[in-house]
Formats: sequence, C-alpha cells, structure tokens
Amino acid sequence: MGLEEEILDSLEKYMSTDVYYEEGRVLSSTCTNPHPFALRVFRRFQLANLGDPGLFPGAKLLEKQALRIIGELFHHPHLEQDHQIGHFVTGGTEANLTALWTARNRWLAASKTRDRSKATIVAAESAHLSIEKTANMLNVSLLKVPVTEDHVFDVDWMMEHVDPRNVVAIVATAGTTLLGAIDPIRELSEYSADNDVWLHVDAAIGGFILPFYPLLGRGEVLFDFQLEGVRSITADVHKMGMCPVPGGTVVFRDPEDLKHITFYLPYLLPEARVQSTMTGTRTAGAAIAFHALYQLLGREGFASTVKECLENTNVLKEQMIQKGLNPVIEPPMNILGFQPVTENTKRILKRLHDRRWRISEVKGILRFVLMPHVKRHHLISFLVDWDECSD
Ligand SMILES: Cc1ncc(COP(=O)(O)O)c(C=O)c1O
Repeated sequence: MGLEEEILDSLEKYMSTDVYYEEGRVLSSTCTNPHPFALRVFRRFQLANLGDPGLFPGAKLLEKQALRIIGELFHHPHLEQDHQIGHFVTGGTEANLTALWTARNRWLAASKTRDRSKATIVAAESAHLSIEKTANMLNVSLLKVPVTEDHVFDVDWMMEHVDPRNVVAIVATAGTTLLGAIDPIRELSEYSADNDVWLHVDAAIGGFILPFYPLLGRGEVLFDFQLEGVRSITADVHKMGMCPVPGGTVVFRDPEDLKHITFYLPYLLPEARVQSTMTGTRTAGAAIAFHALYQLLGREGFASTVKECLENTNVLKEQMIQKGLNPVIEPPMNILGFQPVTENTKRILKRLHDRRWRISEVKGILRFVLMPHVKRHHLISFLVDWDECSD
C-alpha cells in the first residue's frame, strides 16, 4: 500500500463513526444528502472563488442569477432591475448575521441621535441560536419574546415591552428549528412597516418548503417579500435546497441596504474591490449547484420532494401517536415534536442510537426531521426498531 492509500485508510477509520444521511437513519438534522446532480455540479465548480470576481466573473454571474431564482420564489418586488439582491454565504448562521449586521448599521446611520447602548434585536425564544450569537457579535441587546401556546412569537407581548425606536431588527422564523413553527409574520410585518423597523425572516429551513405549498394544494403561507415589512430573508440551499454544504443565502428587499456593510479591498483586481459579505474567499460551489439543480427540477421537482417529506411526516406522526406520544403542535412542515419524553423513551432512544439511528431530544421534546434522505422504507425499519428497543 502506498503512503497516500495508507493515509486515506487511516482517515476512513475515523470517519466510520460518522452517520451519513444516505443511510436514512439521520432523523435529527435539517441537512440532507445533496441531490446527485447538485453534488456533481458542486464538485466540478467548487474551486471557483466568489470572493474574487475579478478572477471568477462567470461564477459571480451565476451566483447573481441563482439569487434571482430565489428572489422569484420569494416574490422579490424589484427583479426588473439588474442588481445582485443578496449573497450566497456559508449557511443560516452567516446569513442571519449578514442581515442583522446590515440592519444594525442602517439603524445607526438613520439618525445621529440614536442611543447605541439601547440597540436591541427582538426575537422569539424559539429563534435559532445564531440570533443570540449575532447579537453578541454586534454588541446589541437581544430581547427574547416568549412564545404563545402555539409555540410562535407572542406579538402582543412584544408590543407591550418594546420601544420601536430602539429596535435594530425584529427576527421572525419561518419554520423554527425545534418544531417547524411559523411565526405570525403578517402581524410582525404590519408592526415593522408602521414603525419603520427592519423585519428579518429566518427561513433557513422553510425557505425551500413554503413557496411550494400552493403547488401542493396547501394554503399559501405568507412569509416573504409580499409582506411589505419584510426587508431580508435567510434560506439555506444546504437544507431543503438539496445542495452541498456550505450553502446559505440571504436576500434583501432593497439591495441598496448592502451599502451599510460594504468595504473596499484595494489589493484585489478592480472588479473584486467591493465586498459586502463577512467572508472573503469562499466557494461558489453551492451557488452554481443550486442554479443547476433548479434548472433540472424546476418548481414542480422541488414541490414533489417537499410533498414526499410532508407525507412521511404525516406517516410518522400517526405511528408515534399510536405508540402513546403526542405531537406538541400540528406540524406545519417536516419537523415533528412529541411529548412526553419519559425515562422509558430515553431508554429506547439510547438503544436506537446503538443501532445508528440519530434522533434528538431537546428541552423535553422528542424531535424528528423528515428530510429528503428519509424514505418510506427507512421509516418502516425505524418503527420496527422502535418496537424492538421498547421493553
Ligand atoms: C431556523 C434556523 N436558522 C438558522 C440555522 C443555522 O443554520 P446553519 O447551521 O446552516 O448555520 C438553523 C439551523 O438548523 C435553523 O434551523
């Protein structure tokens, strides 16, 4: 065996402890196995660097076009103009950071009399941890709004406790991490528009689910730029967009807002001297993969994957109810939360873990995410294993 083979072999040993999505046993993650075509395109073009459009103008153009596809899905109001409406970034965390960084700087720029020490981001307790990280990085306060009994942002509570003059941004989630719950974005949009407050929608998960509901005969969920208060949206292509990691996106209603985070780098080729992203050097792989995958599948193709995930969610829900567990809410998407998690449930989970099933238990809620890699036959094996692991 040559040295390269030996090294590879030793790496394989480490990696054998990892559980890959294609096994169908990962029921805990919002990521998934990329679509084979997306992976093929990603591998072909991953060396292109979006941070240096002077060298890679083709990749930059494809990124711009891919963002416009997303803009169309989200009813972006200004697509007739030829501008770049956002960025591909590393994932939901960086997308949220980019949006809120822009909002914070816009808030500061809006008036010289702003009291910086009062700057606040407002988000529900159910918002993703990346919002807390962002508030910490931007050095602004985070006001955590309680959730209602439906596990969504309590708008009435917010109205009683917030002075809109100090609000840098409100964050609504379209598909919470724990339960897939959808915050009352229409109401938050009205409040935001009335008070000139930035409303950011974290649709890291829901962004590639909710736009397809009308095609599936489900009612439209309003979460995007159709709501006038919404100024920015996060949506991850490495989640339901079925593209390889790292693939997050952030899109802005008014791309002019990006001027608030624009910096100049004199050392790059002239085309690349302007940057409005946190990272500089970054792969164009996911942007090009998404561009290609959308051409291949179209709206109908994405919708049919969403349909399959939702059907599987329903099957698992019914089966778990028969096993004595209760859904915390009627699942709005492909995420299921159950209660109660008894000592017996914990024992079952441990045994299932030994059989390589990956399921999360968070804050007393048993949580399943039914991503495209989970097929019906995986669910059937899971249910058999659950019974075998029960006392
Ligand atoms: C709603 C939501 N926002 C943001 C994120 C962060 O995404 P990432 O892990 O890609 O940074 C997640 C991750 O699951 C999420 O569920």
